[in-house]
Amino acid sequence: MYLIPPKKRHGPTGKKVHGLAYTSAFLLPLREVPNKSTFNHRNMSKISVIGAGNVGATCANCIAQKELASELVLLDIKEGVSEGKAMDMMQTAALLGFDTRITGVTSDYTKTAGSDVVVITSGIPRKPGMTREELIGINAGIVKSVIGSVLQYSPDAVIVMISNPMDTMTYLSVKTTGLPRTRIIGMGGLLDSSRFKYYLSAALGAAPTDVTGCVIGGHGDTTMIPLTRLATYNGVPVSTLLDSAALQQVAADTMVGGATLTKLLGTSAWYAPGAAAATLVEAIIRDEKKVMPCCVYLDGEYGQKDICIGVPVMIGRNGWEKILDYKLDDAEKAAFAKSAEAVRKTNSVLHDMKLI
Ligand SMILES: NC(=O)c1ccc[n+]([C@@H]2O[C@H](COP(=O)([O-])OP(=O)(O)OC[C@H]3O[C@@H](n4cnc5c(N)ncnc54)[C@H](O)[C@@H]3O)[C@@H](O)[C@H]2O)c1
Repeated sequence: MYLIPPKKRHGPTGKKVHGLAYTSAFLLPLREVPNKSTFNHRNMSKISVIGAGNVGATCANCIAQKELASELVLLDIKEGVSEGKAMDMMQTAALLGFDTRITGVTSDYTKTAGSDVVVITSGIPRKPGMTREELIGINAGIVKSVIGSVLQYSPDAVIVMISNPMDTMTYLSVKTTGLPRTRIIGMGGLLDSSRFKYYLSAALGAAPTDVTGCVIGGHGDTTMIPLTRLATYNGVPVSTLLDSAALQQVAADTMVGGATLTKLLGTSAWYAPGAAAATLVEAIIRDEKKVMPCCVYLDGEYGQKDICIGVPVMIGRNGWEKILDYKLDDAEKAAFAKSAEAVRKTNSVLHDMKLI
């Protein structure tokens, strides 16, 4: 009998049986399956998403469609919401062809036990006119209790923090859990970078996938730093293709990218945030070693200590593996220091509230 690795299972004559394809094309004897980890990431992994609201449910949906885990648990405190959304998503499995088993639970952390990755989206989102920082009082209490319950049942999980103000919630998690700093990753820069690429591509009249760009610093309207100097279009610096006024506009649009959507939607966005969170989870589960801007605890890197803030990091199976040094110029260094100062100011509320 021959077995096709998941990535190759849609061969021309492939017949799908319970997620595996038996076919005469691309034949590989079972004992010679070359990449065991490619198999295992899907068959063995368990992922939990806490908070089944807009971002959590979208993230879970992306995770299922990417088949990153055999088991996916969606948890919320609102009775029936996770169960309903999980069932709705499972009813797309036969249509979309994924094998992940999604379970929805109300506040039952025993069902999340043994998760490899836990994504935390619980909390309240921004309302129009509200800054991410204004959410701190409510969300800090929620995140602190959620992370305690998560670790009780999944002590080895990599934690992906989404709840806002994300830099401060990541810091709170690092300070209160005692986990190695590499196992707590805040997602914000990946979303902001995707928005940056969107605005760059619109200004260039190009495809977003042909553009590279990175946003570092805090995940806030005034703290994020779109690195226009390093952005490229098919390897060509965008600074040679767009004039400085256009580049400044792209940076400004990126910085208020979230607020623009909040104004239009009446709440904060979810498609791109959910997809960005799932992309980060994918890099962890598949041990991709991809570099993405993420919020991590700095201990001297980029001239900062005792803070969680967005920098380029390499992501692997156990969390983040190393911080890349992008050799910022003087203006970028100054912007980063200013951003860190603002994040620190928000973090100080945690001390005031005696949460750390
Ligand atoms: N980091 C980012 O890039 C990013 C992007 C968008 C949104 N966010 C943040 O993500 C969070 C979620 O946003 P959303 O739009 O999905 O909000 P939402 O209101 O749609 O969903 C939040 C969910 O959390 C649940 N919840 C509240 N307290 C809980 C608890 N103690 N345990 C479990 N679940 C609990 C709520 O019942 C709700 O279903 C917000 O804080 C938002 O600001 C972050």
